[in-house]
Amino acid sequence: MTFEKNILCIGAGYVGGPTMAMIAYKCPRYRVTVVDINPQRIAAWNSDELPIFEPGLDAIVGATRGRNLFFSTDIEAGIRDNDIIFVGVNTPTKSFGLGAGMAADLQYWEKTARQILTFSKSSKIVIEKCTLPVKTALAMERILNCREDGICFDVLSNPEFLAEGTALRDLEEPDRILIGSRETDRGLQARATLVDIYANWVPREKIVTSNIWSSELSKLVANAFLAQRISSINAISALCEKAEADVTEVTRAVGMDSRIGPKFLNASVGFGGSCFKKDILNLVYLCRHYGLEEVADYWESVVTINCHQQERFIENMLGAMFNTLAGKRICLWGFAFKANTGDTRESPAIFIARRLLEERAELIVSDPKALKNARTDLAGVEGKISYIEDPLVAAEGCHAIALLTEWDIYRHLDFRRIFDSMVQPASIFDGRNVLDHRRCFDIGFNVYPVGKPPLVHF
Ligand code: NAD
Ligand code: UGA
Repeated sequence: MTFEKNILCIGAGYVGGPTMAMIAYKCPRYRVTVVDINPQRIAAWNSDELPIFEPGLDAIVGATRGRNLFFSTDIEAGIRDNDIIFVGVNTPTKSFGLGAGMAADLQYWEKTARQILTFSKSSKIVIEKCTLPVKTALAMERILNCREDGICFDVLSNPEFLAEGTALRDLEEPDRILIGSRETDRGLQARATLVDIYANWVPREKIVTSNIWSSELSKLVANAFLAQRISSINAISALCEKAEADVTEVTRAVGMDSRIGPKFLNASVGFGGSCFKKDILNLVYLCRHYGLEEVADYWESVVTINCHQQERFIENMLGAMFNTLAGKRICLWGFAFKANTGDTRESPAIFIARRLLEERAELIVSDPKALKNARTDLAGVEGKISYIEDPLVAAEGCHAIALLTEWDIYRHLDFRRIFDSMVQPASIFDGRNVLDHRRCFDIGFNVYPVGKPPLVHF
């Protein structure tokens, strides 16, 4: 069968896999190939156990794989045989040299650009899908536009806004699709080609176009604004704990102002995930690069408050448990950075677990999807740790439960049975404010929510 378009994505990760599966699903007339340098990842995409857990992903991969969706390690053939290339490789924070701990590490991205240059035998549209510092497209153009055989590359920016756990819904019904291009004839033509792909299922009014730098910057700004809301409410949660106010009541009252809105205002143990911290630090680095010190400091404080919130959680635990955790058994409910994913990158649970082990507590880690990653994250950390999927069994014989991920299952457990199986006085530290605190207190628990007065029996 001949396909109308041949699309490639380089990078088969959390973004590349689901995004391309959605394009293949919505556009049966296009052939979509996803390549990666990691052969285990590709093997997993071709197996019954996909490399990432995302609700609904199995179904759409099942419907498309082998029909018009293909996963492969053959990067050379992928580049040669496709005219539209998405780049979805990782862009972590740099861990060495100039900008270490702040700037984006562009080595994977640049390697990809050079592979595209080397293996192309015809002109291509190259689309930045990964999150990059503003003006990266210029560097991409400089690497790519140096061929003398008439082969041309048009670089577009098309940042991805999906959130893990709701990726398929976000891809199917996005708030917007953003496409940035050069405003030349060629740039506008390339932009129109990408608009046509998304228009297969996204209403045209939701497909927003812009100049290429605005598009790159908008992605960093969107993540910075979202994270800023969480740090704002978390900062207020600290004040609520001192002032005997209830952060949920404050959020409800404030969020009903239609200019503010109620979303993304859940106080928590802090935000995690592979992107918020990395993208804000990237923004801070850019501001400093342009000499905007005050602007940089403003955005950096979003990350500072997030670290403070995690440390505050530990201080609250220590204070409530007679200032010593040594030898006490503490059960962590949840290790993923949010519910409905197995991803633990930058999860607050990693920090909390390490700090509790420093205090010489014994940890029992529980999570429905993230135990494999949790073992890797805590490998080599000194201390006593066990991993038990069942939250009831995990809590047995513990002095305290720290709820770190808002998995639905934790709301509906038999708390009487859990209380009876624990060492008394038994405490619950609800780092997500998802439990029925009054009910847990009535059963006998001492309950410590975030940003609310604790409910204690002594
Ligand atoms: P990831 O680490 O899950 O996947 C990246 C993949 O790229 C890896 O499998 C890696 O092996 C592969 N890769 C690296 N270099 C390669 C090369 N030269 N050739 C072929 N493959 C190569 O990362 P991710 O979470 O999918 O994120 C990718 C980008 O998308 C990042 O810039 C991130 O900021 C952005 N983003 C992520 C999310 C998210 O929810 N995870 C959402 C929006 C945007
Ligand atoms: C986030 C953005 O929401 C996406 O739009 C973006 O595409 C993505 O980053 C990215 O660039 O990688 P994600 O990190 O997957 O998505 O998940 P979020 O739902 O944003 O949650 C991030 C963290 O904030 C989680 O730890 C979550 O528990 C926490 N959070 C979220 C709160 O503590 N309070 C809230 O009210 C909301």
